[in-house]
Amino acid sequence: MSLVDVRREGAIWWLALARPEKRNALDAATVGALDEVLAQAHRQPCLLIVHSATPGMFAAGADIAELRERDADAAFLAINAGVFERLEAHRWPTIALIDGPALGGGCELAMACDLRIASPRAVFAQPELGLGILAGAGGNWRLPQLVGVGMARRMLYTGLRLDAEAAADAGLVDEVADDVISRGAEVAAVITRQSWRALELTKLALRAHRPATTSFDITAQALLFDSPDKYERMTRFLERKSR
Ligand code: COA
Repeated sequence: MSLVDVRREGAIWWLALARPEKRNALDAATVGALDEVLAQAHRQPCLLIVHSATPGMFAAGADIAELRERDADAAFLAINAGVFERLEAHRWPTIALIDGPALGGGCELAMACDLRIASPRAVFAQPELGLGILAGAGGNWRLPQLVGVGMARRMLYTGLRLDAEAAADAGLVDEVADDVISRGAEVAAVITRQSWRALELTKLALRAHRPATTSFDITAQALLFDSPDKYERMTRFLERKSR
């Protein structure tokens, strides 16, 4: 079973995260699989839908077991940040369907998509600071872009969790739907009736508004990745059941 199941329905590509035993935590193999799909998808017009193969989930963040072992050098590889950049740069629109926790890197994955549709089971948070790291895969700049600096501060500094309605009120998601799969299919059907070339050029036009703090985030993350504090905090998460 692949970590990212791909189902092509005409020009709509459904990319399903399939690592339920770890709540779709994004390890290197999963983001690598996503990256491979992105490389294929840029060759022909297609809209991408990112969702979970298992209902009630989205992605529980970067894989903490892997993160714990990564050092400054690994931080400079910007593994998740790089894939999310390439997802954001997909030539045609992308939609995230969030039907469960979208935490840390999971929330950043959703934010790298053009549109977000959440179910009432969705939860959004950036718990990185509690783990001794920062939201280095886009949280520091995509989040304030979507929800404003004030709400971004609350989410980043306190780990504030937003349910689907609160996320919609904040502008983090575009809409709440009970059945995100069928709603996603409807929205995708409308978009794919537009001119592909015009969609592509509109995406390029909108990308002109993106800020560029990425290099700072990567450097800062490298500093934090080497800290004993981060190692201890991540160990506490991984061993929490035995406490
Ligand atoms: N990285 C690595 N493993 C993770 C993970 C992550 N981000 N999130 C969950 N897992 C693992 C758990 O360690 C557990 O593994 P185990 O069965 O080997 O012990 C398994 O996934 C199931 O997690 P569990 O917490 O038992 O599931 P749950 O349904 O009770 O809770 C979450 C789901 C998502 C609410 C909870 O797992 C969670 O809070 N995860 C961490 C989120 C986080 O801090 N993410 C930010 C990372 S930057």
